[in-house]
Amino acid sequence: MIHKCLFPVAGYGTRFLPATKSMPKEMLPIVNKPLVQYGVEEAVAAGMKDMAFITGRGKRAIADHFDISYELEKEIAGSSKEAYLTDIRKLIDSINCTFTRQKKMMGLGHAILCGETLIGQEAFGVVLADDLCFGEGDEVLAQMTKLYEQFRCSIVAVMEVPKEEAHKYGVIEGEALRDDLFRVTSMVEKPAPGEEPSNLAVIGRYILTPDIFSILRETPPGKNGEIQLTDALLQQAQHGCVMAYKFKGKRFDCGSVEGFVEATNYCFENIYAKK
Ligand code: UTP
Repeated sequence: MIHKCLFPVAGYGTRFLPATKSMPKEMLPIVNKPLVQYGVEEAVAAGMKDMAFITGRGKRAIADHFDISYELEKEIAGSSKEAYLTDIRKLIDSINCTFTRQKKMMGLGHAILCGETLIGQEAFGVVLADDLCFGEGDEVLAQMTKLYEQFRCSIVAVMEVPKEEAHKYGVIEGEALRDDLFRVTSMVEKPAPGEEPSNLAVIGRYILTPDIFSILRETPPGKNGEIQLTDALLQQAQHGCVMAYKFKGKRFDCGSVEGFVEATNYCFENIYAKK
């Protein structure tokens, strides 16, 4: 039912400098696979086929990763090394990729607005590839598309965080419908200490309905002078409906060095070493 997934990948990734000086943060590998490939695989597992990337200057490696590499592939054809490319070849064959550029980094909300022509008037998934998720049972985005079929409104994935960590996230306030599902009544981007409305922080997985684009167009710059998706979602919640879903699974903040190392250790022990 949801065919398209948006990947805002235009950010500077300053927390990973100097590694990200000329390389996209989203191409940093967790063991032997770039972050963005994990994200695309998750979108495919949720039934999505059209991947729309919001890129920027210096991000061409992402487009190249989801294309054929003739010279390399010809070089290793017929050798045992060809097996290393089996998964990515299958993935590339199963998706369509489109790209547009965010010319100025004006925040996540602005990046999503840049995707309007790629998405059109349909509900879509959003994956922030630096949040690496492993679902329990279904992958996280697939858990969310199932909920979308039931509620037909925007859905944000949330997780419980300690109060002292809340200032790094968008934090929701909501009316509990189940122990893992809340109707959002308020949302604050990076709340000051003591001002967090709950311990439920939004992570980088969303299902958005297309009216978000007209809301984002009218959203003034907020925290840090950026157009904040949180502000647009609050409008949607107040005039329509937004659900917050406490997903089942694990999430690693690979935008931070600590989370990246944790994810690497987890993937090495639980995926790579078990192959
Ligand atoms: P982050 O704030 O985590 O990414 O944005 P960043 O800005 O690249 O990282 P730091 O803080 O400088 O280290 C979350 C996601 O939104 C995208 C980023 O690429 C990242 O995937 N983003 C953010 C954009 O595409 N455009 C923006 O203007 C801002």
